[in-house]
Amino acid sequence: MIDFQNVRKSYDDTKVLKGINLNIKDGEFAVLIGPSGCGKTTTLKTINRLIEPDSGKIYIDGQDISTFDPVKLRRSVGYVIQQIGLFPNMTVEENIGIVPKLLKYEEKEIDKIVHEMLEIAEMDYDEYAHKYPYEMSGGQQQRVGVLRALAASPPIVLMDEPFGALDPVTRTTLQNEIVELQKKLKKTIVFVTHDMDEAIKIADNIVFMDEGEIIQVASPEEMLTNPKNDLIRSFMGDRSSDIENQPQVVDDFMYTNISTAYPDYSFKKAIGLMARKKVDTLIVKDRDETFLGVVMIKDINHKLKSGEKSTIGSLIRTDIPTAYSNTNAEESFNELMESEYDYIVVLRANNTLAGIVTQTNIAKSLANAVWGE
Ligand SMILES: Nc1ncnc2c1ncn2[C@@H]1O[C@H](COP(=O)(O)OP(=O)(O)OP(=O)(O)O)[C@@H](O)[C@H]1O
Ligand SMILES: [Mg+2]
Repeated sequence: MIDFQNVRKSYDDTKVLKGINLNIKDGEFAVLIGPSGCGKTTTLKTINRLIEPDSGKIYIDGQDISTFDPVKLRRSVGYVIQQIGLFPNMTVEENIGIVPKLLKYEEKEIDKIVHEMLEIAEMDYDEYAHKYPYEMSGGQQQRVGVLRALAASPPIVLMDEPFGALDPVTRTTLQNEIVELQKKLKKTIVFVTHDMDEAIKIADNIVFMDEGEIIQVASPEEMLTNPKNDLIRSFMGDRSSDIENQPQVVDDFMYTNISTAYPDYSFKKAIGLMARKKVDTLIVKDRDETFLGVVMIKDINHKLKSGEKSTIGSLIRTDIPTAYSNTNAEESFNELMESEYDYIVVLRANNTLAGIVTQTNIAKSLANAVWGE
């Protein structure tokens, strides 16, 4: 638990923190938000003593942190800054291992941590471990930045606008990942942003600051429904109405006229069907209508080239994203965005096929929403 008691900080005559009182529980995802210059970064940096308050106390698990050795404290609190901050002259492996190394973990242990971390982030060790930051995209670098902050397994992780400089798709992916990681690893995370969408998406509690003071601490739902003042209301924008709107379900975007096949179809029969329907994948179902997976034309062509003659049953891919009928559309869309397939299969509760949602369907629905039918 992190406990701020009346923490104040001034630079010359400017009061930057005017008596911060805040309590962040173990395992909580707390998001600090507020206008530029309101004191978010300053608040964050007092937690690892990169900034010392003029007065007031901060306790971690009941212990006054001003009595800790600041260097040790910083090594035990993970920190991710905006703009990545990987060491450019170190590989991914070295970047992730740096804090464990400073903490004098054994070589073997560090090696194990690096492997585990990359696995958690679904980054292939052989592909990434020996790359330098400049050999990766911004999103990949920042993913490594997050892993580095987690590597020595600190119970507290501080993140200052870590995704601010990334494109929206990479940003969404990393937001999803950090929420998953936090659930999996049970960290206490203090995260700074000035993007309310981001805060609403990831926070257990949003801490709204203005001019060195905390104005409101509330769950995203509570802040949406009961913003404490006009500034918070303006940060929330039009979203207050979101909560009354029924969430849309996948069925709203579903396409039901689908080309299907049975697993005993020959390659030739399947290709003929694909040509007639002008599609490059078929959905495969069992004779009792149970959904089995999909076959792709490129897989069939591949087999044909090698002279193999068989049925499509041997080529069924089962990793296509699926969603059950009447589930929330937004989650499925996020999955679709990250998937290598350009559609999601919608299933009824008994695992028979209800339809598919394609990226084109979604784009059309969005266009309708914006410009009308
Ligand atoms: N070293 C410093 N010397 C003087 N003033 C400072 C110093 N560091 C921060 N400030 C001032 O303290 C105030 C709070 O700064 P802080 O960096 O905490 O804001 P912030 O909320 O993180 O803003 P942003 O959203 O722009 O990152 C600002 O007015 C800033 O100019
Ligand atoms: Mg800042």
